[in-house]
Amino acid sequence: MASLFLRIITPMVVVIVHCSGLTEGQSSIEIQQHFEFENVLSDDQQDFWVWRSEAYNQKTLRLEDINRAHTIELKLCIEPFNPNQKVLLVVSDILYSNDGPSDIVYLKINGLPIGNFTTIEQWRSGYEWNIFRNSKVIGPSILVQKGNYMLAIEVETDKWGVELDRIQINAENHDPTKRMFCGAALKKKTS
Ligand SMILES: *[C@@H]1O[C@H](CO)[C@@H](O)[C@H](O)[C@H]1NC(C)=O
Repeated sequence: MASLFLRIITPMVVVIVHCSGLTEGQSSIEIQQHFEFENVLSDDQQDFWVWRSEAYNQKTLRLEDINRAHTIELKLCIEPFNPNQKVLLVVSDILYSNDGPSDIVYLKINGLPIGNFTTIEQWRSGYEWNIFRNSKVIGPSILVQKGNYMLAIEVETDKWGVELDRIQINAENHDPTKRMFCGAALKKKTS
């Protein structure tokens, strides 16, 4: 079996291990859950979303942020289906749109950088804002135990920004009846 490169993250320790695939008897249940980025906004942040007919829910979160001043905080509540095993999760996609120069999107879990991706540069006088593209998998698969984790997303954009539609997480051995996305906030750093 191919060797998987995994990071084990618990609330207290972060270890990097080599693991020869899933262990004997590992549950094969795999779920996929989504979070709509506009749902991160509080009542007084409603000017951050934009109507886009091609977006899920017809809304995106628009961030114009040239120096990573904002942080999207997504709380993940991890509930193993088989309580004796950990959950293997991966950020399998972020759906976004961009018009103008490319931007960089950074992801962290509990403060630890796990990956980033660069949006595609497009110049179509604004028409590209309604065309949504997939980041595809970002970062490694992460093995986590039951508990709460903070997935943080920051962007470094050109002056026209980037629009984020939704994020998708795939998780093996997660209880399908429980929602992984269990809290969200858009924070702005005070300088
Ligand atoms: C972006 O991710 C790559 C791995 O895909 C990593 O080598 C690089 O250090 C990351 N950049 C930043 C600024 O975190």
